Amino acid sequence: MAMFQTKQCPFKEMNWVPILRSEDLQEGVSQVVQVQGVAMLVIRYRRKLYAVYNRCPHAGAELSCGTIKYYRIGGPVVTCPGHQWEISLRNGIASFRGRVKGRMKPVYLKEESGHIYMALS
Ligand code: FES
Repeated sequence: MAMFQTKQCPFKEMNWVPILRSEDLQEGVSQVVQVQGVAMLVIRYRRKLYAVYNRCPHAGAELSCGTIKYYRIGGPVVTCPGHQWEISLRNGIASFRGRVKGRMKPVYLKEESGHIYMALS
């Protein structure tokens, strides 16, 4: 029998911390959660979980005060209330009028046994 070495999976080595009970995150209703002193915006949208830092990468406005809309191709974005940059909840890319302005650090979530966990790297 041939043995193959599997590629290292970074998810196995992440430190997962519980941030919410599943029942506390309703579809389409975002929550701001403090994770080790950092405010994170967490939302369940179309049955998927998303999280981004709650501070806009442009000038620091609270993304939780923005609006969330859904693009059929790009997925959900939060529009910052400051100057209307759009932050993709799928990949953290920040854009304004179709031009990429930056990218937020990715945030990984998982849901298990009635809890939502966030990965700390
Ligand atoms: S602070 Fe968010 S777009 Fe300016």
